[in-house]
Amino acid sequence: MKTPLLRTFLLLSLALAKNLIAAPAIIPAPAALTLTEGAPFVVTAETKLHADVATTPIASWFARWSGLQVATTGTGGITLAIEAALKDELGDEGYKLSSNAGGVTIRGATAAGVFYGMQTLRQLLPPDLEHGGIRAASGRAEVAALEITDRPRFGWRGALLDVGRHFFTVAEVKRFLDEMALHKLNVFHWHLTEDQGWRIEIKKYPKLTEIGAWRASSPLSGGNKIDDGIPHGGFYTQDEVAEIVAYAAARFIRVMPEIELPGHSSAAITSYPALGNDDAPGFAPTVQIKWGVFSYLYAPKPATFQFLDEVLGEVLALFPGGFVHIGGDEAKKDQWEASPTAQAFIKANGLKDAHELQSYFIRHAEQYLAAHGRRLVGWDEIQEGGLAPSATMMAWRDVKWAISAAREGHDVVMTPTSHTYFDYNEGTTEEEGEKIGRGPLKLEKVYSFEPVPAELEPQFQAHVLGAQGQLWSEQLQGWPKVEFRAWPRLSALAEVMWSPREKRDYADFKTRLPALLARFDRLGVNYRRPRATDDAPPIIAKPAMPVVPAK
Ligand code: ACM
Repeated sequence: MKTPLLRTFLLLSLALAKNLIAAPAIIPAPAALTLTEGAPFVVTAETKLHADVATTPIASWFARWSGLQVATTGTGGITLAIEAALKDELGDEGYKLSSNAGGVTIRGATAAGVFYGMQTLRQLLPPDLEHGGIRAASGRAEVAALEITDRPRFGWRGALLDVGRHFFTVAEVKRFLDEMALHKLNVFHWHLTEDQGWRIEIKKYPKLTEIGAWRASSPLSGGNKIDDGIPHGGFYTQDEVAEIVAYAAARFIRVMPEIELPGHSSAAITSYPALGNDDAPGFAPTVQIKWGVFSYLYAPKPATFQFLDEVLGEVLALFPGGFVHIGGDEAKKDQWEASPTAQAFIKANGLKDAHELQSYFIRHAEQYLAAHGRRLVGWDEIQEGGLAPSATMMAWRDVKWAISAAREGHDVVMTPTSHTYFDYNEGTTEEEGEKIGRGPLKLEKVYSFEPVPAELEPQFQAHVLGAQGQLWSEQLQGWPKVEFRAWPRLSALAEVMWSPREKRDYADFKTRLPALLARFDRLGVNYRRPRATDDAPPIIAKPAMPVVPAK
C-alpha cells in the first residue's frame, strides 16, 4: 500500500518524465516549488482578482494589462493577502503562492512580498498575456497546480542606469523599471551627474541644467577620435523625478540617486566655474564631449561645500528615505595638486595630502546625509584616506575592496567590473557595437558570480547587502542598445541575487530562459538574442511586435 505522498511523487515523476507537465520556467528561480497533484487553475476573462485595501494597488496593476477585473468580495479566482504573521518565515519580501483548480492564492507578510508573488504568477501564465492580456491568449490560460514558498537571498538587487553619458527619457526610464520589476529587482541606481551632462533640475542652481545638461557633440565611434557634431542633452525636471520615484515605488523599487563628487564634475563646474579649481593652470571647464576621466573636480571652498549641501538638500526632498550615492570614484587629483587654494586648504585643515582631501569631501557629504537621516554610498575609492564611519561601499574595481571594508564593519554592495558591467559587450560581432572596458562579458560568467567572496569570514558576510548590474552609457546610444546590453545578462544576475545559492544551476537557467525571452518579445524588449556561439549572429530573428507601453 503506497502512501498518498509517495503516490503523488510517482505520478508527478511519471508526468515530468513524459513531459506532460512542463516545469514552470520562472526567473529568478523560486526558493521552493512543488508541483502538486490535480487539475490546473484556469484563468479566463471572468477570473477575478480579490484584493483588500492594502493589496488593491497591486491587483490593479495586474488587472491593467492582463484584462482581469479586481473584486473586493467573493472567492475563487486569484486572491492577494498580506499576513503579518508570515514575517518570520518570509521576511520583508517573500511570498507563498498556492495554485489548484479552485484558485490561486498569493500571501506575503508585506505588500512587496505579494507584488513579487504576482511577478511569479505572471511568469506562470503564457507570454501572450503580456501583449493584449487574457484575450490575446485566446481568453484562456492555465496555471499549473503547485505550491511555491519564496524569498530573496539578498535585500539589495540593483541596476544602475547612467543617464549622464546618454540621456534617456522618462518613458524609457519607466520601461526599465518595468523590466526590473519583472525580475524582482528592487534598487534603481540612477546615475544623474557626469562630466558629459548634469541631468537633474536643481532650483537653486538653474545653470546646472541650462548649461550643464547640454554638450556640443559626442564621440562618433572608434573610441574618442571622431566627434559626431550632434548636440546632445536633456534633464529631468523635479516633477519628472517625483513621477519616476512614485512609479518605482509602485513596483517596490527604491530609487537611489547618484550625485558625483568630488570628480566627474565637469558639467557642474562649467555651469558655475567658481565651484572649480579656477586657480589651477589651464582651468577652462567644458561639458565634456569625449569619454574618459577628466581633471575637473570641486575646489575645497566654503561656497562649494554650501553648493553641495544645497544640491543634496533638494535631492533629499525628492528621494524619500534610505541611501544616497555620492560617487567618489576616479577623482584625479592634479588640479588639487596645482591649486594654491586647495593646497592652502589641505594645510589649514591638517590634511596629509590630496587623498585626505578626497576623504574630507566624502566625510562632509556623509555628515550632511547622516544629519538628515540618510546613509552615504560611494564607489570603492572612498576608502582613500579612510572610509567615513557609516559609509556603504560599492566594490567595482575589485572584490578585495569589499572584503577589507566588510571586515571593518561596513556594508558593501558587489558591483565588480568582472561580472556586473553590462556596458561591456558580450560577443564580438558587428551588431555588438563599440567595445568598452574589459569585455566580452558572457552570460554564463555573469551567472557564475558569487556575491559573497569565499575569503570573507562568516561573521562579516551579512555586510554583503547584495549586488548590482551596471549600465554605463558611453556606448549606449539610444534605448534599444540599453536593452540589448542589459537583457538577459541582468536576468542572470537577478537570479544570482534572488535565488538560494544551492539552487543555482546554469544548465537549468538556460532551459528556463526561452520562456523569458518569449515574454521579452511580447513586451518589445530589444534583448540580445540567442546565438549558436557567443560570437555568431542571432539564430532567431526579432518578431515584428510593436513596443508595449509601460505597464
Ligand atoms: C566606475 O565605473 N567608475 C564606478
